Amino acid sequence: MKYAVIYESATGNTEMLAKEIRNTLGEEKCVCFGTPEEELQSKAEDADLIFLGFWTEKGECSEKIGKYMETLHNRNVFLFGTAGFGGSEQYFTQILNRVSAHLPEGNKVSGTYMCQGKMPQSVRKRYEAMQEKAPQDEKIKMMIDNFDKAASHPDETDLARLGKAAADLDI
Ligand SMILES: Cc1cc2nc3c(=O)[nH]c(=O)nc-3n(C[C@H](O)[C@H](O)[C@H](O)COP(=O)(O)O)c2cc1C
Repeated sequence: MKYAVIYESATGNTEMLAKEIRNTLGEEKCVCFGTPEEELQSKAEDADLIFLGFWTEKGECSEKIGKYMETLHNRNVFLFGTAGFGGSEQYFTQILNRVSAHLPEGNKVSGTYMCQGKMPQSVRKRYEAMQEKAPQDEKIKMMIDNFDKAASHPDETDLARLGKAAADLDI
């Protein structure tokens, strides 16, 4: 079995997951690894399984990955991604459902994995400014708590869980 890892990562979180997949499965069977540029897309045609990685942008997958997914036919894919908000599996499921919708019929999703990913400090600064104006606002408090929770992710446990999911695929 040959595999490809095609991903988008603006600040490095999703790239950590992509590297974990390649570390777990080994470079020998990896036909390509990187962002969905044309050259890589043609190399991915040889893969039996494509690992597709995205970061969450406005509740959706990052744009290039969505567009690339729309070009796929009769492929076997494993979706993985990071999101700033973690909290619940239900949130991840909602995102994954939206992301999967980019795949035309006939493709198969063999697995999915998501975890939280840290956000830039500028985001916390923005929340803090909001909190100064509305110190009692529970929603802003929750956003700051979530930011702080996200700050350590992806962590060792996140990577180990993904590594196990990839290893269990029997490639
Ligand atoms: C413009 C922008 C929009 C974002 N929108 C969301 C969102 O809708 N939901 C969410 O959970 N996280 C959102 N995030 C957080 C990122 O998805 C998260 O930090 C992710 O781990 C970044 O991955 P990367 O380091 O691979 O780029 C957003 C981040 C940015 C910069």
